[in-house]
Amino acid sequence: RIENSLRPQLLDNYIGQEKAKANLKVYIEAARQRGESLDHVLFYGPPGLGKTTLAGIIANEMEVNMKVTSGPAIEKPGEMAAILSNLKEGDVLFVDEIHRLNRQVEELLYPAMEDFAIDIVIGKGAAAKSIRLDLPKFTLVGATTRAGMLTPPLRDRFGVVNRLEFYTNEELKEIVCRSAGVLKVEIDSDGAFELARRSRGTPRLANRLLKRVRDFAQVKYDGRITKEVADFALDLLEVDKLGLDNMDRAIILSMIEKFNGGPVGIETVAATLGEDPGTIEEVYEPYLVQNGLILRTPRGRMVSGLAYRHFGLSEKSSETP
Ligand code: ADE
Repeated sequence: RIENSLRPQLLDNYIGQEKAKANLKVYIEAARQRGESLDHVLFYGPPGLGKTTLAGIIANEMEVNMKVTSGPAIEKPGEMAAILSNLKEGDVLFVDEIHRLNRQVEELLYPAMEDFAIDIVIGKGAAAKSIRLDLPKFTLVGATTRAGMLTPPLRDRFGVVNRLEFYTNEELKEIVCRSAGVLKVEIDSDGAFELARRSRGTPRLANRLLKRVRDFAQVKYDGRITKEVADFALDLLEVDKLGLDNMDRAIILSMIEKFNGGPVGIETVAATLGEDPGTIEEVYEPYLVQNGLILRTPRGRMVSGLAYRHFGLSEKSSETP
């Protein structure tokens, strides 16, 4: 089978997340040998690291279909009941942003996950009665940016829990080269590395930037992506040498300018930027913390010396004698 998608279809073509991959390989093989469906799987971690891709690979490797939905998309238990009862034996149901399911929908999932059955209430008032509906055995693959936001009863019903990590520059470089091959664009080693190191450890971003850099290579250069082309395009796209974008920079600079580098609460920073605190915490902050630009302390977030140096600023002491 020819891989013509930027998303790999098989575990062997998936680069990075070695721990999750090694585990899944065993669980998939074991389930296949027994002729059973795979146990429910939860992926958590920052966006763009491959949760959806891995769900697709699981379905593909198990040779079943995948239905895709998300926490906010399902408003009523009846909608979830309809999705569940239409699954075929062994199917994967991928629920993105699973922490955003409302409580009644989530409670419907408990017996569905545990016993492959749901209880449906028919009628109202004194005439109401509950009937149990058996479901096909299925695999729920849940994805969330923050496992801490899942209720314990839901979290405990996943047999396999995987935390996805940011990718190394070397892994991202490999992904960029693979994607360039799929897109049929020529790229050299230094060009691929420059794209990799400006992609915030995130394949989704690496692939997005690759497509934009390809446009510049085609229109402004001879079509080939070199370090020069990558630098030119990424500077224009306002992605800096550490992969920080305008929002990342705004977060750090506002902490420096308005709060003397902290400590400051994430809600306060969010308010000064007019952003949602949850978005800052789940989407932007993890990479900044991972790379030591922002430090999490019990008294709030602080800007690190590394971040001051990255912006060519000198650290002011906030200690007033
Ligand atoms: N494309 C996006 N993510 C990928 C990954 N982890 N490996 C290979 N190609 C990818």
